[in-house]
Parts: sequence; structure tokens; C-alpha cells
Amino acid sequence: MGRPFYVTTPIYYVNDAPHIGHAYTTVAADALARWRRLWGDDVLFLTGTDEHGLKVQRAAEERGVHPQEWADQTSERFREAWRELDITNDDYIRTTEPRHRASVQAFLQAVYDNGYIALDTYEGLYCVACEAYYTEDELVDGSCPIHGRPVEHVTEENYFFRLSRFEQPLLDHYESHPDAVQPEGKRNEVLGFIRQGLRDFSMSRTSISWGIPLPWDPTHVTYVWYDALINYIAAAGFGTDDERFAQYWPADYHLIGKDILRFHAVYWPAMLMAAGVELPRHVFAHGYLLVGGEKMSKTRLNQIAPADLLADFGSDGFRYHFMADQRFGPDGDFSYEAMVARYNADLANNFGNLASRVLNMATSYCGAVTPEARENGPLVDATRLAFSGLGDGYARLDFAGGLAELWQLIKEANAYIEAREPWRLHKVGDRTAAEAVLGDCLEVLRVIALLASPVIPRAAGELWRRLGLPGTPEDQRLPDAAAWGAVATAGAPLEKGSALFPRIDAT
Ligand code: ME8
Ligand code: MG
Repeated sequence: MGRPFYVTTPIYYVNDAPHIGHAYTTVAADALARWRRLWGDDVLFLTGTDEHGLKVQRAAEERGVHPQEWADQTSERFREAWRELDITNDDYIRTTEPRHRASVQAFLQAVYDNGYIALDTYEGLYCVACEAYYTEDELVDGSCPIHGRPVEHVTEENYFFRLSRFEQPLLDHYESHPDAVQPEGKRNEVLGFIRQGLRDFSMSRTSISWGIPLPWDPTHVTYVWYDALINYIAAAGFGTDDERFAQYWPADYHLIGKDILRFHAVYWPAMLMAAGVELPRHVFAHGYLLVGGEKMSKTRLNQIAPADLLADFGSDGFRYHFMADQRFGPDGDFSYEAMVARYNADLANNFGNLASRVLNMATSYCGAVTPEARENGPLVDATRLAFSGLGDGYARLDFAGGLAELWQLIKEANAYIEAREPWRLHKVGDRTAAEAVLGDCLEVLRVIALLASPVIPRAAGELWRRLGLPGTPEDQRLPDAAAWGAVATAGAPLEKGSALFPRIDAT
């Protein structure tokens, strides 16, 4: 087994149906997981659903069903969406599972025993959509700054988590781990927030019953965020499987949207410190996908379901758009027209054309088998550059930047064909020259199929098969397999096939 690599998505609330915002984070995590598997890592890729709390309880009540029944139905919709998008999560955690409850209770007991939880009375303004308290001055026009909805005045006797004790320890941690929160701007936001001073927060509720009881006082249930964050260690075996926990924790990456940065970069590390557990290596917060300039939300009725786009673009087309056309970090506007344009340009034209013209010519000029690629062919350098550029992109979680480097290789291979005109070489009977050009291009296609497979796994696998190569792109191991001539391909049987990415007519 290779080096462990643990990547997570947020666990999504089951009060909502899956939309492209959830899919964005999940596809990114999947591409990263697939990329690390190509390097031989022992990957644990986790996603799942967040099923407790007032928001879910109310959503179930509105429909007249038990919260568990509601959670079962919606959690299944997320699973279904991820299947349709070829998401290769290794585990799927639900916060209503016994293993999660066991971890939460073990964790809470540890924090309590360490003296970081105490009983107190709380009065505050609560946003049910956020499941969080706000102060008067954090409100915008008297409403929640995130959801724009009225907050509720709540008084409760609660257990409090002593977050205030962790101000300095958190600052020290972020000082000595400058890349723990990414991108840079988000790290600065977190530091600014901590420096303003941290207040203790209530981590239990008596007003609702839909949650995990505190082990030392079962009249209280755990505050939903306190419960939810623990999923990341629960799935790694905290309190239930010490060997697994030692193997996978700390996580390499928590991928999240910027809406939940504070929970992941302030609350969560403080909770872990309080329990004496190591902190995650990196939290990466990406921006919002906006629709018509606004964040998608159920209340605004502007959500787009993955299925709405899958019918037109397929899983690969969907995945490619969100990885190549939406920068991972800043906010980005989603537009159907832009998605069609980029699909046609990058997938139907650049990628699809290269594959089909090379396979077509090699089939008719080279007897449908792969000729030898030259050791020092003119595309060798471009291939090496594409590989290193793509790798740099993945290392920074700059998927769009990395893919642009890979597509540069595609463009160069297409330009090379235009320049060498193998159809002309064939016509004048220069079989050796035609085979040299096509052999080089087939080798480029092999490397592209391999390197593009984390983002467009279906087309990559199909291209690999048409190239007559043994196994699948997923069986290959980097860096060796990306080297020019790494696989003996001469004589491999070729298949023309139909368009890998049929053009979409925008109407
Ligand atoms: O917050 N653009 O769950 P959630 C980009 N259960 N990403 C978006 C998005 C958008 N418009 N909308 C949603 C919760 N996301 C908690 C998490 S984790 C311990 C608990 C993505 O269902 C993004 O990753 O509201 C965001 O952080 C997440 O979905 C919020 O999902
Ligand atoms: Mg949300």
C-alpha cells in the first residue's frame, strides 16, 4: 500500500436536494482522489450527509415524516447523484449511523474530561438555516448575513465549548503551518477573525431531540455542527478503529465552500486541540458558484440539479466544465451558454478531433495497428511539460490551471498534424514519414488519456481501449506511466470508433 491520502468533502444537509454547488466540491475531491490513486497513494475519499439539527427536523415535520425517514430518502438522492457523476468515494458517512454516534460520544467525553465543556445559560439570535448564533452587529438589516432570513431569539441552558481558550493556540498553529488554510486570502480572513477574539459557544441543545445525546447528560443533544465536524474522524475510525485512525488521520485536505470556513478553520481545530487529536493538514475553501450573480439556494429557487446538465453534457462533460472552466478559489458565475461553448471548443474540437483524426488516419494508413513512436519525437518536450504543469496544478488545487497545461499539449499535437499533413505524406507514398507522425500522435493520445482520466474518466477509458492498450488508465502508475514510450504500444490494434464528445448545438 502506498502513502495514505485522506480527502473529504463537507457532509451535505439532507434538508436540500443535491445541486451543482454540492457537485462542484464533490467532483473536485474526486478528481484529486483519482489523481492521487494514479500516484499509488492509499486514498481515503470521504463524502456523506449531515442529518441532525433543527433544519432537518423541521424539513421532515413539514412533510409529516420522521426525520430518519426524511434523512434516508435524501441521503439516497445524494448517493444517486454521485453515482451518476462517477464519484469514486471510498466511504460515505451519515451522521445517523451508529459508528458516527460512537465516535461523537467518545470525542465529547474526551473534551469534557479535559475540562473544555461547561454548563451555562445562553441568550442569542439564531439562524436555523445556518444552525448558528449571530450577534446583533453581524446581522444585515436585522437578518442572517448569509441567508437574508429573520433570526430567532433563543434562550437556553446549554453546555458551552470553551473556544475562547484556543485563541492563542490557534494563532500559534497557523503561524507555524502557513499553508493550513488555503487559498491565502481565506487564511487571512481566518486570522483576522481569531484576532478579534473568540467567544465560547453552546454545543448542546435541549429544545430539540433530533441529535446525539451528550454521554454525561442525555437530556441534551449535541449541537449539529459539533456533531457534524466529527464525521471526518469518525469515518477514519476515531474511537472505533484505532489502527484505521492511525493510518488515515490527519486528513490531507478538507475541501469546503467558503460559507463554512469558520467552522472548519476555527471551531474544528479548537475542538481537536481540546480532545488532544492532531489537526487536519489543509483546509481549502473555494468560492461560490453563482447563478445569475446570486448564490444558489432553496429559498431563491435558483438551484440547478446535476441531472439537469447530465442529459446534455454527460458525466465527463459536467466534470470537465466544473474543473476546467470554474477557478477553484474565487466565486464564479455558472452559465449554460459558456458551458456549451467550452465543451465544444475543448472536448468536441480539441480533444475529440485529435483523437478521431489520429485514429482514423492510423487505421487507414498504418493497417489499424500502432506504429513505433520515435524516442525523440518533436512532441516529447511538450508531453513532459504538460505532465509537470498538470501536477503543479493538482498540488495547488488549481484544477483549471493544470488542465490548461494538458490542453496545451492537445493543441500542440493538433498543430503538429496541421504542419506535417500526414494525409499528404501518405498520398505521396512516404509511409515511413506518415507512420512517424502518427506514431508520435498515438503516444501523445496515450499520455493524454492517462492524465485526463481523473477528470474525464469515461472518455479516457474509452480512448485507452481504442488505442488497444492493456488494462485501464486507472491501472497505470505515475510518474513512470506518463513518460514517453513507457508502454510498449507498437502493434497495438486500433479502433476508430465514433465521436468521443459529440458537438452540442446551443439553441
Ligand atoms: O454546510 N457554490 O452543508 P450544505 C459552491 N452540512 N459550492 C456550494 C454551493 C455553491 N453555490 N452551494 C453549496 C453544510 N456548496 C454542512 C456541512 S461539514 C462538517 C457540514 C457546497 O448542504 C460547498 O462545499 O449547506 C459548501 O460548503 C457546501 O456545499 C455546503 O453544503
Ligand atoms: Mg448551506
